[in-house]
Amino acid sequence: MRFTVAIDGPAAAGKGTIGRAVAERFGFAHLDTGLLYRAVGARMLAGERAEDAARDLRPEDLSDPDALRTPEVAQAASKVAVIPEVRAALLDFQRAFAHRVGGAVLDGRDIGTVICPRAEVKLFVTASAEVRAQRRMDEWKAKGLSADYDEVLADVKARDARDADRAAAPMVAADDALVLDTSNLGIDEAVAAAVAAVEAKRPL
Ligand code: CDP
Repeated sequence: MRFTVAIDGPAAAGKGTIGRAVAERFGFAHLDTGLLYRAVGARMLAGERAEDAARDLRPEDLSDPDALRTPEVAQAASKVAVIPEVRAALLDFQRAFAHRVGGAVLDGRDIGTVICPRAEVKLFVTASAEVRAQRRMDEWKAKGLSADYDEVLADVKARDARDADRAAAPMVAADDALVLDTSNLGIDEAVAAAVAAVEAKRPL
């Protein structure tokens, strides 16, 4: 069985948490596509051309996800993500993952619009910038790291603007996406809404 769940939305909206929960619930594989852009961003910070890094991305570039989940790498990721050649180099891998037998959940910015326009289920997960900044703060606190709320909020807003305004595959809800505003939803409620959307489309 092939079945694709596309989850898009702005920074720190909870796409990953929802994606992982949906994947676990239905036994689907999960890909956080942001990590691909983060890995390219990290190699650019280390001095490489982004286009070359994207064409030559290796599994070991993704072997330490926590090292990629820093504010510096996030900003670098959204800078390399505007380059059409970078996006093109990452396309085939994402599509192949989406079509794997057994079902797949992908989260990112352009999954429902560009990578998998025919995904069975499309969600656009969002929340106010303030709520998202607070969630990112909580994630870092849970890891024992400190962060400044105003800086996190500025980071989230800068990335949102770059992601939404770029010409190549801008972040936008697909016309047929279910928009899930999680500003006032707990994680259990948000996951329940996503699971219900999958249940409604899943072959019996
Ligand atoms: O976890 P968070 O929501 O903060 O970000 P992420 O999903 O790891 O994505 C990091 C950056 O990669 C984003 O700000 C986008 O610029 C870029 N990205 C993209 O352009 N397309 C995707 N499908 C996924 C991420």
